Amino acid sequence: MQEKIIPVSRLNGAVRLPGDKSISHRYAMLAALAEGTSQIRNYSTGADCRSTLTCLEALGAGVRTEDGGVLVEGHGLAGFAEPAGMLDAGNSGSTLRMLSGLLAGQPFLSRISGDESLSRRPMQRIMLPLRQMGARIEAREGRFPPLEISGGALSPVDYSLPVASAQVKTCILFAGLYAEGRTTVREPVATRDHTEIALREFGAEIDKRGGTVVIQGRPHLKAQQLWAPGDLSSAAFFLVAALIVPNSEVLIQGVGLNPTRSALLDFLISMGAGIRVENLTQRHGEPAGDIRVKHSPIQGGVIEKAMTAALIDEIPALAVLGAASEEGLRVRDAAELRVKETDRIATVAENLKRMGVKVEVFEDGFFVPGKQRFQAATLDSFGDHRIAMAFAVAALKADGACTIQDAQAACVSFPEFFDILHQLTE
Ligand code: S3P
Repeated sequence: MQEKIIPVSRLNGAVRLPGDKSISHRYAMLAALAEGTSQIRNYSTGADCRSTLTCLEALGAGVRTEDGGVLVEGHGLAGFAEPAGMLDAGNSGSTLRMLSGLLAGQPFLSRISGDESLSRRPMQRIMLPLRQMGARIEAREGRFPPLEISGGALSPVDYSLPVASAQVKTCILFAGLYAEGRTTVREPVATRDHTEIALREFGAEIDKRGGTVVIQGRPHLKAQQLWAPGDLSSAAFFLVAALIVPNSEVLIQGVGLNPTRSALLDFLISMGAGIRVENLTQRHGEPAGDIRVKHSPIQGGVIEKAMTAALIDEIPALAVLGAASEEGLRVRDAAELRVKETDRIATVAENLKRMGVKVEVFEDGFFVPGKQRFQAATLDSFGDHRIAMAFAVAALKADGACTIQDAQAACVSFPEFFDILHQLTE
């Protein structure tokens, strides 16, 4: 599917967004391990979170979608049954990596694969700790999906993550649910902590001090009534759009504002963004609120070190903002971008170049100078949801109509994206 984007003179209006993708995955997986039926309202509508539900169903959890949300019926930690065939994680690295932690604890053989993009993403990062815990785990060419996991009795580990990754942290903590005793994960820099918060909500014993998380194995998890806040990473596209298009003012209601994610807002505000947070609340340990954003001149900035991990999913959108800023955007310490759904350093640079925007590429990042004009172009998602949406936003500021090829990639996290964008630009 191609999407034609016409430049606009402003964005205006109020929107609510579907539930956070990271939180939805975790709620669904933990609900499948709890005893009883959990309800998750505002569950992410993206294909990735659907992949999680399909895998959980194949493992014997009851899954029903109703008007009020998703109902997941779990049968306790030992309630999974051997799946009939290969589990399919689709495009979702979160599904594959986090679920592998649970599969490692099962007394049966599971196989899990994904689409072409996921089949090229590195898995040693989870294979190593899961093997240390006692699981047998094999991969294509020793590191790519499909994975074959024979689980069983696991031993606790004390594991220092070599790369900052919330997916790997979650995988180990999930395996730790099946280990007798205390499993410890140490992070080099803080990553999103939705797993720790959700585990506590479901009744697990979690101890978090600085960058060290400890989970006590074999808890009894109880079904919950949950609500997933709007996805801040989806909101990021409208924040950038409103900031770069003159005369814009947008209100995004009920967005997740967990401090391990909301570094985005602090970064934007530090560069001069007119952003206000209103109606701050907290549900199930996760803060949420409304974000009001107004078009503002943006100074430009640097993303490096710990900040890179905190902003990793927003970097494609921020690259677009950087080109429209005064002084540009420098991104370093971001080699992880090369192993996302696409090599996001390459796909961001390619689309910027197609728009006539200058960009200097490094092995671990890029520099986009500021004050650049966006020329109309044929752009490509390269099959990556965040690239589709970031360049739809860039197209709003182009000097003519742009086309986004393979625009349906956005459905991986945010199927309503183009409809909401049109609604705000009408
Ligand atoms: C996620 C963690 C991040 C992020 C991804 C979602 C999560 O990945 O990029 O979109 O929900 O834990 P890594 O753990 O690979 O950094």
